[in-house]
Amino acid sequence: MDTDLLIVGGEGDLALRKLYPALFSLDLGRRLGKDTRIVAVARRDLDRDGFLQLARQWFDACKDERPVDAGEWAAFASRLHYFRADATSADALSALQREHFPDPSRELVAYLATPPRIFAPVCRALQAAGLVRNSAGAGGGAGGRGGAKGGGVKRGGVKGAALGTRIVVEKPLGENRESFLQINRELSEIFSEEQVYRIDHYLGKETVQNLLALRFANSFLEPLWNNRYIDNVQITLAESIGVSGRWDFYDQAGAMRDMVQNHLLQLVCLAAMEPPAHLDAGAVRNEKLKVLSCLRPMDEGSARGSTVTGQYRGGAVAGQPVAGYLEEEGAAAQSDTETFVALRAEIDNWRWAGVPFYLRTGKRMQRRCSTIAVEFKQVPHSIFGDRLPAAPNRLIVRLQPDEAIRLELLSKAAGLDAEAPLRPAALDLSFAAANAGQPVPGAYERLLLDVMRGNPTLFMRADEVEEAWKWVDQVKAAWRRIGKRPEPYTAGGIGPAQAIALIARDGREWYDAA
Ligand code: BG6
Repeated sequence: MDTDLLIVGGEGDLALRKLYPALFSLDLGRRLGKDTRIVAVARRDLDRDGFLQLARQWFDACKDERPVDAGEWAAFASRLHYFRADATSADALSALQREHFPDPSRELVAYLATPPRIFAPVCRALQAAGLVRNSAGAGGGAGGRGGAKGGGVKRGGVKGAALGTRIVVEKPLGENRESFLQINRELSEIFSEEQVYRIDHYLGKETVQNLLALRFANSFLEPLWNNRYIDNVQITLAESIGVSGRWDFYDQAGAMRDMVQNHLLQLVCLAAMEPPAHLDAGAVRNEKLKVLSCLRPMDEGSARGSTVTGQYRGGAVAGQPVAGYLEEEGAAAQSDTETFVALRAEIDNWRWAGVPFYLRTGKRMQRRCSTIAVEFKQVPHSIFGDRLPAAPNRLIVRLQPDEAIRLELLSKAAGLDAEAPLRPAALDLSFAAANAGQPVPGAYERLLLDVMRGNPTLFMRADEVEEAWKWVDQVKAAWRRIGKRPEPYTAGGIGPAQAIALIARDGREWYDAA
């Protein structure tokens, strides 16, 4: 059955930069149904031609791999429609339904590329317009934990099963646990948990999924994947960009809410979770939830000793001068919002007791680089004396700038010298090289396809998001109690010196990919 797409906020940044290019790639790969129709809804005064022109301009700006072929674009454009309306109005959406989605037996994905404050009125308008199909109805159970656990999230991708309407929502899903629960309550008045797809686009990245394959399709790692053999885990999401013209939004969020609450904690879950019994949504999400609920809460002492926040000052990135956070366009003169966070988290369970998870994210760092570095313990006894360098064995999962997995080992330098030193050497698996000719799909391609297939495994369940907020809320509360203020750091550098001291106090250093 073909699935139609309705994109609310269809002429916004997210839709233009990410959604249409991803849908175009899916179309090229023949992953869209023959009759799939994509309708953008927005208030801007545009006709269809104007909208297509706008979408096309963004394509040309975003599609860097190769120029867009005119024929391929025309085929894709024939699926695209623009409907000018206020999506919170039931009358307007009824007109949309009559014009574009008259057949109630077709599958529908409604993507809310809008701020969460209008989720509830848009959902009510969708319902009143008859665009919520197969809904479990009011109280159907998207709420906090209900539908997620005992109620049983249906296994994804059931072939041929009617899935009805699915709703896709993006972060920010609230600014704390309470506001998240409020958003969720409103969604659950209309949709069941099975119909709600909460996107964290990091989960759609190819290497992130490969982490699951690496851990659970290979037997050699599992015996080592615990506190007997692993010394520490470091997850870094470093960006060279600043706040990209969204100062107001960012200033409300800060790095903790923008990156740690979602992307970083989701990566912690995938690195730390127990093997799920199946690769279905319920089993995977249950294991992720257990990790989140084992994160040790932070009190004032640990907020002082185990966390660092920073804010960038002017500097240079890739040789170009860049403004400081407080001089960015639209900035207020004063703000204590953090653009950098480093922290040492602990997971209190049998597998990870005593293994620190060092997490770090920042804007305007020297380069864009995201890695999960798993450092193994040193051998218990060295037969090589001082020829054994201090370099630990490491497994590096790199998400950005390119996707790769690397195993760093020690090996003997070639030669007849009896005292030949041991040197770090690496086994590298670059996805671009390993999949020669096959482009690595982008995160939104993968996630949009999964929503259309009805597979929620790579989306966040309500109780996961709630648990992540709980942990973040108490860290932020501890920051408030100790009056924590961000340390300045120079744009284009490696973040505040205190972040280096944080890990150095434990006798370790950050893994920084060359
Ligand atoms: C978004 C954040 O969720 O992720 C942005 O809101 C951030 O601030 C972006 O820049 C990073 O995503 P990626 O895929 O470019 O690493």
